[in-house]
Amino acid sequence: MAKEEDKKESGEWKEFFWNPRTHELLGRTASSWGLILLFYLVFYTFLAGMFCLTMYIMILTLDDYQPTWQDRLATPGMMIRPKGEFLDITYNIENTESWDVYVQALDSFLAPYNNSQQALSNYNCPPDNYFIQEDSGEVRNNPKRSCQFNRTQLEECSGLSDHTYGYQEGKPCVLIKLNRVIGMRPGKDGQSPYVTCGAKKEDSDKIGELMYFPPNGTFNLMYFPYYGKRAQVNYTQPLVAVKFMNATMNTDINVECRINSNTITNFSERDKFAGRVSFKLRINTKN
Ligand SMILES: *[C@@H]1O[C@H](CO)[C@@H](O)[C@H](O)[C@H]1NC(C)=O
Ligand SMILES: *[C@@H]1O[C@H](CO)[C@@H](O)[C@H](O)[C@H]1NC(C)=O
Ligand SMILES: *[C@@H]1O[C@H](CO)[C@@H](O)[C@H](O)[C@H]1NC(C)=O
Ligand SMILES: *[C@@H]1O[C@H](CO)[C@@H](O)[C@H](O)[C@H]1NC(C)=O
Ligand SMILES: *[C@@H]1O[C@H](CO)[C@@H](O)[C@H](O)[C@H]1NC(C)=O
Ligand SMILES: *[C@@H]1O[C@H](CO)[C@@H](O)[C@H](O)[C@H]1NC(C)=O
Repeated sequence: MAKEEDKKESGEWKEFFWNPRTHELLGRTASSWGLILLFYLVFYTFLAGMFCLTMYIMILTLDDYQPTWQDRLATPGMMIRPKGEFLDITYNIENTESWDVYVQALDSFLAPYNNSQQALSNYNCPPDNYFIQEDSGEVRNNPKRSCQFNRTQLEECSGLSDHTYGYQEGKPCVLIKLNRVIGMRPGKDGQSPYVTCGAKKEDSDKIGELMYFPPNGTFNLMYFPYYGKRAQVNYTQPLVAVKFMNATMNTDINVECRINSNTITNFSERDKFAGRVSFKLRINTKN
């Protein structure tokens, strides 16, 4: 009895798989299967087509020379050179090796700023005005030229007259750069932005006199606006050097440098790196 039922059941299964009476495979006729396969073929082809079309349109709207998506940074960040793993410059005057790393870092950083190099690749722009090189409509005005920033403009901090950038005599130079932001115009009415440095409250009597190069610590307006790496291939970032003339020895000095500009205002308290950079300076004299 049980055997007969088993037989019947397996017969039903066989019939479901292939029904010779109705010519149905898994409950569908050949034409039904054909229609279903055709439907999926058309459906997935359509999806793939949509995907390709969307990508194509995306790529068409991308600009080779300018990122489509860029954070609207109201206040760009600043960075120092030489820069170690942490933003601290600590050395011992007596120990040549302790400051030679900074001198070497500055030497290699400033190599592209050599006057001869600048004269070769960049243009001697009229100062104190933006160097505007807009495209006219769809006509690209590329490649765009860049302005010379000569190493000699850093004077005592150029590493040319004083090969140790003041490190050996305890009057070190620190270079400051403003991060590149495409299209940023950091000053109006012909007033260039400038850098000022100071000590955190508790160190204010230790920082001593500072000197800035170029004079007044300005980033001249002629280095702006920046048009991006592909459009402005030879762009040389302007620098400001700060020289610590009389810093107190054998103590930590927490220094903060910031940009002063009549267009970059609204320093966000949320972002502690906006428009400023902090670092620690310590010059030791004892072994
Ligand atoms: C830049 O100038 C310095 C000093 O004149 C020289 O030692 C160095 O080799 C120059 N670097 C380049 C890349 O021309
Ligand atoms: C940079 O140096 C070159 C070569 O010495 C000189 O011809 C040029 O006028 C200088 N440019 C600036 C902006 O000082
Ligand atoms: C960039 O610099 C190279 C030499 O270093 C020069 O031949 C070229 O003309 C410069 N390009 C622009 C756009 O100034
Ligand atoms: C530096 O600033 C002072 C006062 O703001 C100004 O009189 C002087 O002309 C400036 N120097 C340069 C080279 O811009
Ligand atoms: C250097 O700073 C010390 C105090 O830290 C001060 O007594 C001295 O007069 C300063 N020297 C100069 C040349 O400013
Ligand atoms: C700066 O902030 C003030 C008020 O907090 C606002 O009215 C002004 O539009 C802001 N400026 C910029 C450039 O964001």
